[in-house]
Amino acid sequence: MTNSAVRMTGVVKRFPGVVANDGVNFEVLKGEVHALLGENGAGKSTLSNILTGLYRPDEGTIELNGAPMSFASPKAALDAGIGMVHQHFRLVEPFTVAENVILGNQETPFLIDAESIIDRVNELAARYDMAVDPNAKIWQLSVGEQQRVEILKVLYRGAQVLILDEPTAVLTPIEADALFRTLRAMTAEGRTVIFISHKLDEVMSVSDRITVLRGGRTVGTVATMDTSTRELASMMVGRSVEFSRVVRRNPGVPADVVLSLSQVNCDDDRGRHALHDVSLTVGRGEIVGVAGVAGNGQRELAEVIAGMRSSTSGRIAVAGNEVPNGKARAAIAGGVAHVPEDRLHTGLAAGHSVEDNMALKNYRTPLLSKFGLLRRNVIATQASDLVTKYDVKTPDTATPVRLLSGGNVQKVLLAREFSTRPKVLMAASPTRGLDVGAIETVRGRLVEAADDGVGILLISEDLEEIMSLADRIVVIYEGRLVADMPAADATREQLGLLMGGAKMEASR
Ligand SMILES: Nc1ncnc2c1ncn2[C@@H]1O[C@H](COP(=O)(O)OP(=O)(O)OP(=O)(O)O)[C@@H](O)[C@H]1O
Ligand SMILES: [Mg+2]
Repeated sequence: MTNSAVRMTGVVKRFPGVVANDGVNFEVLKGEVHALLGENGAGKSTLSNILTGLYRPDEGTIELNGAPMSFASPKAALDAGIGMVHQHFRLVEPFTVAENVILGNQETPFLIDAESIIDRVNELAARYDMAVDPNAKIWQLSVGEQQRVEILKVLYRGAQVLILDEPTAVLTPIEADALFRTLRAMTAEGRTVIFISHKLDEVMSVSDRITVLRGGRTVGTVATMDTSTRELASMMVGRSVEFSRVVRRNPGVPADVVLSLSQVNCDDDRGRHALHDVSLTVGRGEIVGVAGVAGNGQRELAEVIAGMRSSTSGRIAVAGNEVPNGKARAAIAGGVAHVPEDRLHTGLAAGHSVEDNMALKNYRTPLLSKFGLLRRNVIATQASDLVTKYDVKTPDTATPVRLLSGGNVQKVLLAREFSTRPKVLMAASPTRGLDVGAIETVRGRLVEAADDGVGILLISEDLEEIMSLADRIVVIYEGRLVADMPAADATREQLGLLMGGAKMEASR
C-alpha cells in the first residue's frame, strides 16, 4: 500500500540543443500541495507537460497511484485523473462559464441537460470556495474568475491530481489568497496539487513539500516546515543567495521632465471610459511607480503612452515634444520603450528567432541596416551580446522565442527594450515570472537605466517592488490617479488603502 499519487523516475526529455529534463526523480503524495521550484529554464513546465501527456519522455517511468502509466495525449492523462491549469487560459470568450466547463468533454451526450451542468458547476464552486456565476460569459469575468473556470473544468472532468503552472502570476494578492483556500479545500478531500511558482513566500505558506529542479535535474525534495526561503533560493541557484536591496547611485532630484501627460482621457476595448484626466510627469533619471490593483486602467495608461491606443483628449509629451495621438511608431521614434503585460501577444513575435526579436525595434536604424539592407552580422552580434548580458537560456540566437521557457521569453523582451536607449521606459510587472536571480538582474538594470538618465514608469501590483525601486509613487484607482507622493513617505498600509479606493485624507 502506497501513499504515492505520482512518481516520476529518471525522466529525460531532450529538445534540439537542450536537455530540458535530465533524469528527474519526483514523487508527489496523495492529498498534499507539492511545490515545484527552479530557475527559469530549469525544466518545470517540461516536467508538467510530460505528466499531462503533452510530451512523451525520452527515458524514465511514470507511476500513478503505484501503477506504471504512459500517456499518449492530454486527454489520456485527464482520463487517468491528471489535469493541468495553464498559465495562459484556453477559454472561449463568447461562451458562458458552464459551456466552457463542458467544452471538449467527449463523454457529454449530444443533447446536454443545461440545468444539471449548472447545478454541478455550482456544487463544485461552492465545495471549493470558488465564487463564479455559471451563466456569465467569459469576457465578463476578471482574470481570477477565469482561472476558477479553468480549475472547474479539470475538476468537472474528475481530475484527482491538479497541476497549476505559475497560477498566481496573473492574480492580485486577494485573488491569490482565495486560490490558496481553494487548493486547501481540494487537498482536504484527498486531491493532490502540484504547484509551480517563483514566489518563495507563497510557496512557504501554501505547500506541504517542495521539490527543487536545477538545470533539468532534481536537487532535492524538502518538507516545507523544515526549510526556509534562504535555503530554497540556494538550492535553486546552487550557491547562497543574498536578498539585497537595489541601491540607487544618483537618486537625485530630476531636473528635466522626459514624460508628461496632461489631462489624458481614453476608453478601454469595450468603449468604456478608462482613464480620467490623468496628469503625470516623469523626470530624467526618475523612477515613478504606478501602484494599483490590476484592471484599474494600468494597461490603458501604458498603451496610450506607447501610442498603441488613442486618447480621447489630453496631451502627451516626451522630452518636451508632443507625441501624435495613437501612433506607436512615433512614440518609439520619440524614445518610448515599453515592456507590456502581455508578452507573447503584444511584445514579441513568438515564431521568430531570438535574434530577430531583439532587432525588432531598431532594425531601421543605421547601425542595423544600410542602404535598406539588414546588416545580419551586426544583428547577430547584438543578439548574442544581449543573450549574455541578460543571461537568456537558449541553445542559440536562431531559436524561435516560443521555444524558450516563460522566464527567458521575458528576458528577451527586457533586453530588447533596454537596448533601444530610450528616454522613457514603461515597464509593466517587469519581474513577473522571473526567478530570484533574474529578478535581481532586472531590478539592477532598471536602476542602471535610471542612473543613466532614463525616466522609468514602473507599473506593478507588487508593492515590495515599487517601494524598493521607485523615487515617487502614484496610485491609480478606477482610471484616476488618486495619490502622488515621494516613495520615502509611502507606507505599505497607506498604499494598500489607496489602491482599494480609500481617499487620501481618510488614509492618513
Ligand atoms: N518545445 C520545446 N522545444 C525546444 N526547447 C524547449 C521546448 N520546451 C522547452 N524547451 C527548453 O527546455 C528548457 C526547460 O524549459 P521549461 O519551460 O521546462 O523551463 P521552466 O522551468 O518552466 O522555466 P520558467 O520558470 O522560465 O517557466 C528551456 O531551455 C527551454 O528553452
Ligand atoms: Mg515554465
